[in-house]
Amino acid sequence: MRKNIVAGNWKMNTTLQEGVGLAKDVNEALSKVNAACDVIICVPFTHLAPVNAVINPAKLGLGAENCADHKSGAYTGEVSASMVASTGASYVILGHSERRQYYGETAETLKEKVALALENNLTPIFCIGEVLEQRENGTYLEVVKAQIEDALFNLSAEDFSKLILAYEPVWAIGTGKTATDDQAQEMHAFIRGVIADKYGKEVADNTSILYGGSCKPSNARALFAKPDVDGGLIGGASLDAESFMGIVEAFN
Ligand code: PGA
Repeated sequence: MRKNIVAGNWKMNTTLQEGVGLAKDVNEALSKVNAACDVIICVPFTHLAPVNAVINPAKLGLGAENCADHKSGAYTGEVSASMVASTGASYVILGHSERRQYYGETAETLKEKVALALENNLTPIFCIGEVLEQRENGTYLEVVKAQIEDALFNLSAEDFSKLILAYEPVWAIGTGKTATDDQAQEMHAFIRGVIADKYGKEVADNTSILYGGSCKPSNARALFAKPDVDGGLIGGASLDAESFMGIVEAFN
């Protein structure tokens, strides 16, 4: 059966020293509780190896926030999936709306990134979600369906089963405006149906689908109580160990 997961997305926050401190705090807090979900932190590239050195991998997973769409070579400033894997990380966020919006990521580049992540045994946390206009004009379901079809439906069922999905309505990211638990459930159930139509019910039932967008300790419990919401991808609230743990504990 699918896993419950709480994953932090630190984005472009914390110096190396602050990041290592935050990772230590989360690690320490996790050593004192029996978390009822998998817990992951996704951190800037510069922080991966030093954070990996201070966490207990049995309790806390580590991921990057992106990787390159090429294997290696003359791509100045890029960081490849194999480089990410060589730090000890096991996950990589791909297709975050900020990457799509500010760095022009398309379904084509995302296909390459997903393939390279999987080749390097990284688990992609693949993000999808509509913008406000699409929510308001009622096209949000078809928009998200197309994002999944265009970037992921070239995968075999075996490879698709390795993914974690994250539904992140763009209008809820960093805005303090959370989707209601019913809005999240509607979309998550829809996504599971899209997966079932392509790969069958078993693959769909085994896929973890996280919610992201202004998730915090005060709303996490209601969101995670929905049958198709399998956890959260947490931005702002993951930058403070106490609030991140408050979300982790929403599963207890
Ligand atoms: P937020 O970000 O929790 O700060 O809204 C979520 C995300 O972008 O992953």
